[in-house]
Amino acid sequence: MELAEWCSSSRVIIVAGKGGVGKTTTAAALAVAAARVGRKVLLIELEGKSGLASMFGYESLSGEVEVYPGVTVLPLAADEALIEYLETHGLGRMSKRLVNSGALDIVATAVPGMKEILVLGKVKALQRARAADVIVVDGPAAGHAVSFLLSPKGLLDAVRVGPVLTQAVEVTEMLSDPDRAQVLLVTLPEETPVNETAETAETFIDRIGLTLGPLVVNGLYPERPLEEMVSPGEIRAVAEQAGVAVPDGDLEHLARAAGFVTGRRRLQEEQLARLAERPGLPQVVLPFLFSCDIGRAELEVLADALTAGVGAHPVDA
Ligand SMILES: Nc1ncnc2c1ncn2[C@@H]1O[C@H](COP(=O)(O)OP(=O)(O)O)[C@@H](O)[C@H]1O
Ligand SMILES: [Mg+2]
Repeated sequence: MELAEWCSSSRVIIVAGKGGVGKTTTAAALAVAAARVGRKVLLIELEGKSGLASMFGYESLSGEVEVYPGVTVLPLAADEALIEYLETHGLGRMSKRLVNSGALDIVATAVPGMKEILVLGKVKALQRARAADVIVVDGPAAGHAVSFLLSPKGLLDAVRVGPVLTQAVEVTEMLSDPDRAQVLLVTLPEETPVNETAETAETFIDRIGLTLGPLVVNGLYPERPLEEMVSPGEIRAVAEQAGVAVPDGDLEHLARAAGFVTGRRRLQEEQLARLAERPGLPQVVLPFLFSCDIGRAELEVLADALTAGVGAHPVDA
């Protein structure tokens, strides 16, 4: 399936995974990849301080900002969603006061799932209004994502009538329609994240009725042409070729670092193999980038990998 085709018809793509596995990075790279093939992208940031701003070269973001040609970031907090909901239901004047007085927290504590339904309800409204060609949601961490995405179902059981029920029904419908919403699960090629990802995938499919896109395995170390230990002599030869003078004392350390990377890659490959045994979880692999920060240049590289990976994914959207 082509990425251009997948990122179309206002589909919502929720990027989920454990904290720190690269959800925000993947969401940003997916947005860049989609924008490069001419898609208008809405990138929804659910949690402030996600790092999204700095990836696109901004110190911070407030309100809707076009951070890359064709990519608009929309921060979406529950209290803002509540204000908007109240305003569109004729309660505009009291809405800000309610939120400022902390009423949202009281409501959210009294009604589990209320905050989530406000946010998901807003995402659903954007999807219905076809606010963009693709709506990428930088989702909460895996554990949270499960409760986040299960909340409409919970409310379906708890609420019998009224606008909250309507929202819950409509969000549930959206989440179970692969044309309207899919989840992009992100993991690292490491033992525990791999185990948890397989479980999360099952929960998403069985309990929420979600459709998963290909599984993103982030941070794969580079492949080494040499099977055995890299020798200091080889390091010197490569350095000389590149026109870099390496002091003799550093050669040993560099050789050891190369050995570490090789060993690490081997362990990562074992985890990739474990994942490959799972049917229905085709992988898209993103490279580990040896740079201090993820910025635009890095996003372009990751967008290339995503485009190629999704393109190789056989299942139709
Ligand atoms: N492919 C990668 N190569 C190198 N660093 C990465 C890569 N993906 C993510 N990172 C770094 O890992 C950290 C966590 O990534 P982030 O996308 O914020 O994770 P999450 O949103 O899942 O918490 C960040 O510092 C990010 O720059
Ligand atoms: Mg994040």
